[in-house]
Amino acid sequence: MMARRIEIFDTTLRDGEQSPGVSLNVQEKLEIARQLARLGVDVIEAGFPVASPGDFAAVEAIAKEVRGPVIAALARAVPGDIEKAAAALRPAARPRIHTFIATSPIHMQFKLRKSPEEVLELAAAAVRLARQYVDDVEFSAEDATRSDPEFLARVFAAAIEAGATVLNVPDTVGYTTPGEFARLIRYLRENVPGIERVKLSVHCHDDLGLAVANSLAGIEAGVTQVECTINGIGERAGNAALEEIVMALRTRADVYGCETGIVTQEIYRTSRLVSSLTGMLVQPNKAIVGENAFAHEAGIHADGVLKERSTYEIMTPESIGLKQSRLVLGKHSGRHAFRARLRELGYELSDQELQQAYERFIELADRKKTVTDRDIEALVAGAESRANIPEEYALEYLSVVSGTGGLATATVRLRRGGEVFTEAACGDGPVDACYRAIDRITGIHVELDSYQLQAVTGGKDAAGEVTVRLKDDGHVFIGRGLSTDVIEASARAYLHAFNKMLAARRDAAGTSAASATGTGAAGGAAAPAAGVDG
Ligand code: KIV
Ligand code: ZN
Repeated sequence: MMARRIEIFDTTLRDGEQSPGVSLNVQEKLEIARQLARLGVDVIEAGFPVASPGDFAAVEAIAKEVRGPVIAALARAVPGDIEKAAAALRPAARPRIHTFIATSPIHMQFKLRKSPEEVLELAAAAVRLARQYVDDVEFSAEDATRSDPEFLARVFAAAIEAGATVLNVPDTVGYTTPGEFARLIRYLRENVPGIERVKLSVHCHDDLGLAVANSLAGIEAGVTQVECTINGIGERAGNAALEEIVMALRTRADVYGCETGIVTQEIYRTSRLVSSLTGMLVQPNKAIVGENAFAHEAGIHADGVLKERSTYEIMTPESIGLKQSRLVLGKHSGRHAFRARLRELGYELSDQELQQAYERFIELADRKKTVTDRDIEALVAGAESRANIPEEYALEYLSVVSGTGGLATATVRLRRGGEVFTEAACGDGPVDACYRAIDRITGIHVELDSYQLQAVTGGKDAAGEVTVRLKDDGHVFIGRGLSTDVIEASARAYLHAFNKMLAARRDAAGTSAASATGTGAAGGAAAPAAGVDG
């Protein structure tokens, strides 16, 4: 029997970006969108253009550049939103406006303060307006799973009548269960006139940990599109994880009888990229892409896998693009060998990106006996957008003294253009001391919102990967640093986020670099922290 094709609608850049504390700049969104296209998703929901100028610019940039998937933009069921979405999508080869309005009694009464009849009218009007701009219009009934099914069916019928090409059934608050959701989908398929002419979609949130199970139940009940995000990031507990749905459909094709267009070998790389740019680390026991997902600890398991992999492996690490970590390069490997290994791992870097990555590789190889594929992946994740952030402050030297009981002290030397600045500071610990010394040099104190440290591989000489989140006037900037010395990784992560913040301040102010810097050793009067997204 022919497998049924399920379309994968990725909303990492829209719902995923709504994760608390996540903020991506235009370059970062473009880098993720390019990777999503490589992954083979059918639809990229690129953003919510009316939300901010940064969102608009990102949707427009993705619409202009990324070819292959449909590019969708979100709009509430109001003319202003729809016009903005249409404008941002203008350069797209395959644009889709995704408009939504809530249909549950709770939302209609307390949030919208509208009667069901008014909501039905607004839904139809929104779809009609969107169809004046594009041929492909998706309509979502927000909080569908807490809506009256009969009313939901009437709204969907009106949306079809108005020209919708896709109907989406969101479990907005992650409330439904697989059985209940499947019944709702079947009910809609039987009671919405014309539903067979449009695509039917589900969009599940994970508040009860059921997002993937509910999405799969929707597929079993006949939907042809699922909305999901990489690593399951999203509002509150997140959205259904793309990699889990896709690998469930692939591994259990015997049960579902469905296929997707996803190039599964790109899953691991996409997961790393999203985690690195959003600063949302993946838990080790996360299905498919977690550090332990293919690790066999118990002796009996390890022995079984050595004898026959299928004893304890229902899918191979290679199927998600996870190469067995092996010794690859050392400090004597030249740029050629480095580039060749990157190519084998699926990375094609520009000359500038390669140069930056190679310099960081040499630094790492200097200290670490063996540089593994995992180390290399950590080095190059985010290389495209990193290359677009001017390294205004670069770390030249760092020395830290710390011990039990007592303050730590740090001496830091930074280069900015042709000048070098050195400062020392005390702190509660070595990282605090180091960050205080950097603040003294730049003259700008930024709020450290979060700090996370992870070892990239096992072993005593493992590289430490630090992810920091800085807050500046309500805007969030994420930085990453990698080194075998975790204090150095901490300094690099801080400077990475700091340089992004300076670039955003400059973009917002439209002024020269000098006016965006602070009052410390590096001079200049502090510029107001103008608001743009990080
Ligand atoms: O969760 C939700 O209801 C949404 C809609 C906008 C589709 O994200
Ligand atoms: Zn959602």
